Amino acid sequence: MTVAFTRRDALNEPLDLAGIGIGPSNLSLACLLESVPEVRSRFFERRGAFDWHPGMMMPGVELQSSFLKDLVTPVLPTSRWSFVSYLVAHKRLYAFLNANYDAVPRQEFARYLAWVANGVDGLRYATEIHDVEHRDDRFVLRFDNGQEEAKNLVIGTGSSPFVPDWAKSFLGADCFHNSEAKSRLKDLRAARIVVVGGGQSGGEVVEALLGTPDAMKQLIWISRRHNFEPINDTPFSNQVFSPEYVQAYLKLSGEQKQAALKNSILTSDGLSISTIHSIYRRLYALRYLDQSTLTASLSPNRDVIQMERDGNAYRLIVRNHFDGGIEVLHADAVVLATGYRFRLPDALGSLSERISLDRNGYPTLNDDYTMQWTGPRTNRLFAQNAGRYSHGIADSQLSLMAWRSAKIVNTLLGRQHFDAEPDNAQLVWATEAASAMRHQLRAGYSDGLLSS
Ligand SMILES: Cc1cc2nc3c(=O)[nH]c(=O)nc-3n(C[C@H](O)[C@H](O)[C@H](O)COP(=O)(O)OP(=O)(O)OC[C@H]3O[C@@H](n4cnc5c(N)ncnc54)[C@H](O)[C@@H]3O)c2cc1C
Ligand SMILES: NC(=O)c1ccc[n+]([C@@H]2O[C@H](COP(=O)([O-])OP(=O)(O)OC[C@H]3O[C@@H](n4cnc5c(N)ncnc54)[C@H](OP(=O)(O)O)[C@@H]3O)[C@@H](O)[C@H]2O)c1
Repeated sequence: MTVAFTRRDALNEPLDLAGIGIGPSNLSLACLLESVPEVRSRFFERRGAFDWHPGMMMPGVELQSSFLKDLVTPVLPTSRWSFVSYLVAHKRLYAFLNANYDAVPRQEFARYLAWVANGVDGLRYATEIHDVEHRDDRFVLRFDNGQEEAKNLVIGTGSSPFVPDWAKSFLGADCFHNSEAKSRLKDLRAARIVVVGGGQSGGEVVEALLGTPDAMKQLIWISRRHNFEPINDTPFSNQVFSPEYVQAYLKLSGEQKQAALKNSILTSDGLSISTIHSIYRRLYALRYLDQSTLTASLSPNRDVIQMERDGNAYRLIVRNHFDGGIEVLHADAVVLATGYRFRLPDALGSLSERISLDRNGYPTLNDDYTMQWTGPRTNRLFAQNAGRYSHGIADSQLSLMAWRSAKIVNTLLGRQHFDAEPDNAQLVWATEAASAMRHQLRAGYSDGLLSS
């Protein structure tokens, strides 16, 4: 999409906000900013067009969250950029409803996102930001053939594939992170394949491999967790994906946050039940119905600690935390479904020295998603999807992106343009909230409001 040349450009006035990266996070922010014309913004994406995790768009993959938690609906349900608007615009609302999906196909949600990304103003593609400098009262963003200046900056560059140190020197056609799975798997002709990582990405890779076993004779799937753990997708657990929870979580100490995060990890990072069923049933069919020669084994409690070349193949050294044993595995190909981590984009260059990092290597975030940095307070640096530790497990998911965008807009404007106040929590997380609630209840009784 081309961005119109405006009077602002002629006057060399900086934008109010520039965004680096156009994934769902910054796309949500761009949608909400449509309702605030006084904020002049522009977002930059290195890809030629919007594309949501293309390397993992295998057949049959599903969304892990509700389609109502789209780019806008939780804070601006009247926006023209809701998922329901997409369905109506594409004349498939009734068809979609009749499909009665338990989980929306990820392909459909990706098409929705791409439709929005093609329609919202101020988005510029094929523009990788190489460098950001802070000069005088503004940020200067540099890209091939140009630069842009902005008073405030929002980083929406997502998280990067995590490759363990032991695998780094082997990356290529037969050892790769799952983020490249779609293109790599179709050419893979390996007889012995090891998939490392028991999260949803590992599950989707295993499901894809079992769908077209072709040359595969042996498949080993390794999980470091105690088992191939399902996502905890039940109502009380899902309360961690709410503004109320974030509000309570923000008040915790660093230690308390780590403990709360550990306790809620499977609300986000477990395997979808549908993926578990699909893999289990496929294994059953291969073994008992098809009399397949494929041997497939699932190995939980395993930590891969080393990888070596073994002729044209690989040898993996694995520690079994269940009984303390050490195993040696042989593989012709290794898929690393070892997760993702947030990191500041290289583009921040010299600026990154001025940004405070927490003990996890993530930027130290204030409650309003601004990073702590040594620059002027009038030049804010926001970070999206960087608050897993500071703001809780939901920050690395889609669930609260619209709400987070609303908070960012409110901070930029210095007023509550969007109602981002949490609901009354049913689950009472914080001590003071519990006391206040009991106080209210007592007051209610004494006023006769709750007497039967
Ligand atoms: C396969 C997969 C499926 C997922 N499914 C779900 C789900 O169903 N539900 C859920 O809640 N969460 C899901 N998540 C988690 C998360 O919500 C998504 O990863 C989401 O895409 C995060 O959005 P984002 O905008 O923060 O980052 P990203 O989607 O990663 O987007 C970042 C963008 O920044 C661009 N970029 C990076 N550097 C630069 C630069 N220097 N200049 C310009 N552009 C740059 C990148 O090209 C990219 O397009 C999933 C994650 C994965 C990996
Ligand atoms: N369909 C979807 O909606 C979909 C699809 C894919 C991903 N996602 C989401 O994206 C996020 C990331 O998922 P993910 O599966 O990519 O990552 P993940 O949930 O972080 O899983 C990665 C796994 O790899 C393990 N691991 C790392 N190093 C290892 C080693 N050396 N040996 C053995 N195991 C090792 C980790 O173990 P530890 O647990 O011990 O660290 C972890 O369990 C999740 O929130 C997920 O829900 C969603």
